[in-house]
Formats: sequence, C-alpha cells, structure tokens
Amino acid sequence: MLPILTGVLALASLGAACTPSVTTVSGTHAPATVCSGALIFADDFNEFDLEKWQHENTLAGGGNWEFQYYNNNRTNSFSKNGLLHIRPSLTEDQFGSHFMTSGHLNIEGGAPADRCTNPQWWGCERTGSPTNILNPIKSARLRTVNSFSFRYGRVEVRAKMPAGDWLWPAIWLMPAYNSYGTWPASGEIDLVESRGNRDMRLNGVHIGTQEAGSTLHYGPYPALNGWERAHWLRRNPAGYDTQFHRYQLIWTPDFLRFSIDDVEIGRVMPGSGGFWEFGGFNSNPNIENPWRYGSKMAPFDQKFYIIMNVAVGGTNGFFPDGVTNPRPKPWWNGSPTAATDFWNGRNDWLPTWKLNVNDGEDASLQVDYVRVWAL
Ligand SMILES: *[C@@H]1O[C@H](CO)[C@@H](O)[C@H](O)[C@H]1NC(C)=O
Repeated sequence: MLPILTGVLALASLGAACTPSVTTVSGTHAPATVCSGALIFADDFNEFDLEKWQHENTLAGGGNWEFQYYNNNRTNSFSKNGLLHIRPSLTEDQFGSHFMTSGHLNIEGGAPADRCTNPQWWGCERTGSPTNILNPIKSARLRTVNSFSFRYGRVEVRAKMPAGDWLWPAIWLMPAYNSYGTWPASGEIDLVESRGNRDMRLNGVHIGTQEAGSTLHYGPYPALNGWERAHWLRRNPAGYDTQFHRYQLIWTPDFLRFSIDDVEIGRVMPGSGGFWEFGGFNSNPNIENPWRYGSKMAPFDQKFYIIMNVAVGGTNGFFPDGVTNPRPKPWWNGSPTAATDFWNGRNDWLPTWKLNVNDGEDASLQVDYVRVWAL
C-alpha cells in the first residue's frame, strides 16, 4: 500500500511542478529542464563564483575608447558581506607612473583563465607614450557567456550604482551566438546604465547619478542603429548611488519591458513588421534586413548572456562635451589623446571617487543579487 501511495503522490507533485516554458537556456549553469516560472539562474554573491562569472581581460575600451583596463583582480571585483563589488582603481598603483607613458603591456596569458578576451581595438597589447598613455584605470567586467544564456524570461538585479566623476556602470545582455551577424545586427539589451557624476548637467538637466537608462541596440550595421526609438530614462532626485534598486526586465515573444522597483520605465512591442519596421529601416529598400527569416522579435528572439561592469569615460558621447560639472570634463570626445587628457585631470575627478573611504565603496557598483526566471 505505502509504496503505491508514495508513487501517486510523487507523480502528482511532479505534474504540478513543471509546466513547460517558452524560455530556452544554455550554458554550464543552465537547468536541464526549464519549468514555467522557475528560477533558472541566481547569484546572491555570498561567495564570488568565477564558474558563473567570467572576467574579461582586455584593454579594448568597449569599442568607445573607454579608459579602463578590465582585469581579473580582487582589488577590482570581489564579494563582501553578500555584495558583489566592481571597484575601479588606478593602473599606476600596480605598474608605477613611469610605466603609464613608456611601458609595454601584453595582457595575454597562458592559463585558460588568463587569456585576453578581446583583441579588437588593441585590446591585448599596448605601448604607452606621453601622448597616448596606457589605460589609466583598472576595473572589471563580468559575464555569464559560458555559464548561462537564455531566450525570454524575467530578470531582476538588485544593485546600487557607483558615484564618482566619469564612472559608467552597466548591467546588460549581449547575444550568445550573433545569430543575425555582428553588432548591432544581433541586438544588445541594456538593463541599466548610469553616470557616476553627482551633479552633472546637460542643458540644465541632471544626467549624473540622478538618471538611469535602459536601451535596446539593434540595426543592420553600426552606423544604422535604432536605439533612439528604444531608449528610456528614469530620474531619481535621491540618486541611484544612494540606495539599492531592483532593475527589471520582462522579455517575451511579444515584448520587452523595463522597470525599476516594479515601476515600468519603457517597453517595446513590435508589430508584424518586427524591429525592422520599428527601427524605421524599411524606408530604404537597398538595405538587406538581417532579421527577415527570424520572428517579429528578431534579433531579440535568440539567447543572450549577462554582463556587469564599471567603465570609465570614453569618446562616444555617453559623456557629452557640453556638460557642466563642478569640475569640468577633462577631455573632448574628438581628442586623439583623450585618455591622457583624462589622466591629466585626475586632481579634479579622483577625489570624487573617494577610493580611500570604506575601501572605495562609493565608486563601486554593488550588486546584491541577480535572478532570472523562466516565463
Ligand atoms: C591586483 O591589483 C593590485 C592593485 O592595483 C596590484 O597591486 C596587484 O599586483 C594586482 N595583482 C595581480 C595578481 O595582478
């Protein structure tokens, strides 16, 4: 009697436990079976799990000539009190000031975990000169590229943005397989980006720590990117650097919706013409639509992985030349010596990072948890 009863109960609970989901996953830390509503990836950062989070190791500057050197070093990324910290530091602290203007940095290593992860834009090897110094800031960029990628789902990241002039934190998703070709044809999902300046204004509007943004990048090639039609901002007079907030994404076969603390900031629900029509690319018949064989959500109908980083500066205009800041922006975006100009202005921006207070907590992107659920 007893074995039969147990069997019936087990069957019943199994039946209730797993409704198939439209969400698909891959990676070493992806569940074998995806049940509707189930938590399919999570990290509370009680320890720093490098099986989940691969460090990028590169001088590439994110394609925007950003000023940081991403490395795997516990000065720049660590778990402490259950919080992941991504903390910038000065490259000079490790190599000395003379090295910045004359040293040769080859960051390619022999161990699997030491490989340079992005050779583009002189990302693996650079030589410093007085006009073109080596990347002056060390920081970290972590990704789940091997451990977890997913298509459709619900994401929530509880995090506190860093404060400090010209810091550029980001929590975002990139396509795992570039199913529609290279950037931005396969898309990019920016859950949250902000700027660390505590009182920076553009045309009178605070665009520093009081602003957080979500964006989609998509288009047939880099010069044709429809991000401006899928870009949203939310202001918070208290600053996103003073408290933890929950940054959320719901991504379905019909729409993408971004929220902060359960309040929607923006959404895209493309029609049958998909992102080609939504981006306005259909007005030019001479451009080939890379998504023509995909669903209406293409390129956002393929698997993406998670990235978290703190970048610094860059010349792409994320920090516009026209801003007012208590201490002026030390580089022009058109400058061929932007990193040097930035470094020469360190007496202005370095004090705002407060690296010597609380182990640089203010300038750190702090993450309490990352959670992903299946639809
Ligand atoms: C990590 O960074 C610190 C601070 O820049 C530096 O002193 C140290 O040498 C680095 N460690 C390694 C293993 O590179």
